[in-house]
Amino acid sequence: MRLPTRHLLGIEGLHPRDISALLDLAESYVLLNRSGKTRRDVLRGRTLINLFFEDSTRTRTSFELAGKRLGADVINMSVSTSSVSKGETLLDTAATLNAMNCDLLVVRHKASGAPALLAQKVDAAVINAGDGMHEHPTQALLDALTIRRNKGTLAGLTVAICGDIAHSRVARSNLLLLTAMGSRVRVVGPPTLIPAGIDQFGASVFHDMREGLRDADIVMALRLQTERMSAGLIPSAREFFTFYGLDAAKLAVAKPDALVMHPGPMNRGVEIDSQVADDAARSVIREQVEMGVAIRMAVLDVLARTALAHA
Ligand code: CP
Repeated sequence: MRLPTRHLLGIEGLHPRDISALLDLAESYVLLNRSGKTRRDVLRGRTLINLFFEDSTRTRTSFELAGKRLGADVINMSVSTSSVSKGETLLDTAATLNAMNCDLLVVRHKASGAPALLAQKVDAAVINAGDGMHEHPTQALLDALTIRRNKGTLAGLTVAICGDIAHSRVARSNLLLLTAMGSRVRVVGPPTLIPAGIDQFGASVFHDMREGLRDADIVMALRLQTERMSAGLIPSAREFFTFYGLDAAKLAVAKPDALVMHPGPMNRGVEIDSQVADDAARSVIREQVEMGVAIRMAVLDVLARTALAHA
């Protein structure tokens, strides 16, 4: 398969056919990873640079693993010890890396649109690993793969995304992907954390957690993105947990086989209770992390093929 563009900047612009094909390819990488084998021929001779201007555990590590399992030379740029700290701009940094003949540039930045800007300036294929409040496309893809593996489909499912919707790039990418694939998406949270007009993107809005979770197939809890938040949007973390923290009592109104998801990092006792997060019968949070490696292998594989087609 090939994507319509050389880059992966968001779920926006992907056709449901592209999404399904990426999930199918990732499925094959799940099996390969579980068998302990690698496919080092896919990216042999290619260079992947992880350029993260914001902290990350899951995304950066899984892109590194994915690149190495496919045979790429992988460089993790430490932004804090790079010349960015001496005042070098984002574009100059990217141009410098580009001059080293980098093939794949994985970028996380606090500014929405930063990866799209870089994509106009570099020859490398740019992958958005999370930009501000905009998108986190590989997170939505790995979430979709996790759901599809457990439920067999995405179409017709009711997915409740709970908590800080307003500042969440994960919420935005998931909303775009899940509605495109035929899921019914609810967003659940206090009015201060739900962006105006989100219903125009196909989401139903709920301010009462129990109403929002009623008969849901999937319940996805999101972290309060305090680093992007102005003060005063919630009274306190304790009160947020009382009304919107995912605990067993609130989860009880969802379907009995509803899955619990969280993109991580989790703040236990704020948006999710430990009992629910660690419930092996309901929680697929660890599986989401495993799917992250497979999805990123699929994305790197496809972008390498797409680059060849554009060469
Ligand atoms: N879900 C996610 O993006 O996690 P990291 O911030 O650890 O990469």
